[in-house]
Amino acid sequence: MSEKMKVKPADGKLGVLCVGLGAVTSTFMTGTLMARKGLSKPVGSLTQMATMRVGKGKDKQYKKFGEIVPLTQLNDIVFGAWDIFPDTAYESAIHAEVLKEKDINPVKEELSAIKPMPAAFDLNFVKRLNGTNIKQADNRWDLTEQLRADIRNFKAANGCARIVVIWAASTEIYVPLNMDVHGTLASFEKAMKENDTEHIAPSMCYAYAAIAEGCPFIMGAPNLCVDMPAMWEFSQKMNVPISGKDFKTGQTMMKTVLAPAFKTRMLGLNGWFSTNILGNRDGEVLDDPENFKTKEVSKLSVIETILDGEEYPDLYSNIFHKVRINYYPPRNDDKEGWDNIDIYGWMGYPMQIKVDFLCKDSILAAPLLLDLVLLSDLACRAGKGGIQTWLSFYLKSPMHDFEHKPVHDLFEQYAMLKNSIREMGGYEADQELD
Ligand SMILES: NC(=O)c1ccc[n+]([C@@H]2O[C@H](COP(=O)([O-])OP(=O)(O)OC[C@H]3O[C@@H](n4cnc5c(N)ncnc54)[C@H](O)[C@@H]3O)[C@@H](O)[C@H]2O)c1
Repeated sequence: MSEKMKVKPADGKLGVLCVGLGAVTSTFMTGTLMARKGLSKPVGSLTQMATMRVGKGKDKQYKKFGEIVPLTQLNDIVFGAWDIFPDTAYESAIHAEVLKEKDINPVKEELSAIKPMPAAFDLNFVKRLNGTNIKQADNRWDLTEQLRADIRNFKAANGCARIVVIWAASTEIYVPLNMDVHGTLASFEKAMKENDTEHIAPSMCYAYAAIAEGCPFIMGAPNLCVDMPAMWEFSQKMNVPISGKDFKTGQTMMKTVLAPAFKTRMLGLNGWFSTNILGNRDGEVLDDPENFKTKEVSKLSVIETILDGEEYPDLYSNIFHKVRINYYPPRNDDKEGWDNIDIYGWMGYPMQIKVDFLCKDSILAAPLLLDLVLLSDLACRAGKGGIQTWLSFYLKSPMHDFEHKPVHDLFEQYAMLKNSIREMGGYEADQELD
């Protein structure tokens, strides 16, 4: 065993503040509350279900994550949220129609007590939504100050020892990186005070508020929110973990499994066409081209990074990659994602693979939220500030700074995740196969 990394114990309650109380968040909350009553299993969550190897050779052992590192127990979680609609978590879960009422009602009382705080919202960033539960502020700085006060008040009112903030709200329009504003913490703060509403999205106010209060922040949508030097600088300065972006759930999860398989077998790729039908509110928001642009950028980066055309020009230099999302209300949360993949093999002979994934978006996302929240809290107690690349496993477009490339391959990401857990548990990181 290596010298034990100092990780503070997970004593006391953990406040989990969710930005957005829609389909994903209400499914996450309901499942967590049901699991802690022993009424449901947290399927898909590594922190709750997986074992992993620690130690090598004759010393190897398989342990659950919580036996290796001190993780917050589900019983110690207290949920809170912000949303532009005043519906409680119970009303939101019923409205989302992801879960059956019989799976919601046993925790109705707990869910009904979760009432969203007024949101930091700007219609210019999500044009298709009209809510009433919205903060009034003179400028972005003032808006952020109000969010900071919310975090402090929630913490005090619920007797929480720590807070994690996670964004599972609607995807905002694409805000390109502008180094004059997003380049340094000083320029960013100046722009907030000058109320630069073009470059400072509401999501950035939540991220800034969380970091300022010493709380880990996770960006679950494709918003560029924390993908900027200003936020990297701030999170380093405050020694607070940040991660993002975009939960890796259905189609992209499959992509990051299949693309490494082609590369490992040295099969070529001509094209990858991905399309989806989706009928929930997320699908409605993404139907707006400006909001879809944010998602598209996040989804497109995956293949090019795994299949490096410069390294293998005979196989991957000319890939046609297209991604579409179509709003189709009859399907609600039951997304259907089709992939047509044009590969080639021996002597360049073409072949096709078709994937038809009939998934449930929020069912796939919920365990990722639970793991990201618990592992970000762990990282904070281990003193890991800044970008948490080891959490890339959960994310479609993992954060990275200008000097590093993102890792997309699910299995490489899994190795990174396990090694970080090993190190925080006082074991050595290793490359051994299990
Ligand atoms: N489900 C998945 O598989 C998946 C995967 C990756 C990313 N995501 C992202 O997760 C997010 C949530 O998805 P969903 O299906 O729950 O959507 P949803 O529309 O059901 O819920 C989003 C909620 O966010 C609220 N909201 C919007 N702007 C807000 C703001 N500024 N502050 C507070 N609340 C705000 C909306 O009112 C809504 O209730 C979306 O951005 C989606 O793109 C989902």
